Amino acid sequence: MSKSTAISPDSAALAAIAAMRARLPKADPLARLPDVHPCKIPRHIAIIMDGNGRWAKARELDRRQGHRAGAESIRRTLNECGNLGVEQLTLYSFSNENWKRPIEEVTAIMELFSEQLSLEAANFVEQGVRFRAIGSRERIPFELAEAIDAVEQVTASQRGITLCLALNYGSRAEIVDAARSLATRVAKGELKPQEITEELFAASLYTAGMPDPDLLIRTAGEMRVSNYLLWQISYAELHVTDVLWPDFGVAELHCAIRDFAGRTRKFGGLG
Ligand code: FPP
Repeated sequence: MSKSTAISPDSAALAAIAAMRARLPKADPLARLPDVHPCKIPRHIAIIMDGNGRWAKARELDRRQGHRAGAESIRRTLNECGNLGVEQLTLYSFSNENWKRPIEEVTAIMELFSEQLSLEAANFVEQGVRFRAIGSRERIPFELAEAIDAVEQVTASQRGITLCLALNYGSRAEIVDAARSLATRVAKGELKPQEITEELFAASLYTAGMPDPDLLIRTAGEMRVSNYLLWQISYAELHVTDVLWPDFGVAELHCAIRDFAGRTRKFGGLG
């Protein structure tokens, strides 16, 4: 990193860092990424973690070992997002279509979730991470669902980064659920159709109360959004990397954030 590209800590940078630290005490974005202005750090990063299977295949390993290596990438990415002052990291961990995979793989993934959650729960508490899960609880093994509830509860008032796992998640199902709950309220006379606004609709999604993702990263090179957060990514910037998820690390995260920081976001206006 050349010194000339580093951001000098001007008042806007210092104010941005102070605001981050008020909520995320660990954040030190200028120390980690000196060439990106702290105001340009995305508040919410969503990731489609793809390529675990290809990573394993390239090494003649079982696909399950690819998922296990993917869990290490999560640890690295979460830690660095915390250092950078990212408020929320949302990871596509299991789609509602992933049940179509062989039962051995599905079982191994569910066991990995349970194992990692029990391993990480104490670290989340120590590091101030707030844990959330979005998606349908249907078909999720009972012990895993209980562990998710417990970790959500115990970390609910933490002030650090929010780690949100999209688990048994599908965006179309989420939108249908929201439409159904609003329709039920209309049918009961609690709500008039004309009172349904974008804000009320957003508040009926699994992600109610969460900021929309600013940056969507997809690993393993596929140029698609795969039924992930379709409502929420309306204005997200997209970054696709060929790197397979188990190889995704701090350097790749920094690259995605630099890419994001260089974009002009116009939200339909003139920028
Ligand atoms: C996509 O790779 C990955 C998944 C469907 C599962 C994601 C799971 C992990 C990263 C494991 C750890 C997760 C937690 C939350 C502890 P793929 O299998 O579709 O890869 P391929 O396209 O190369 O076959």
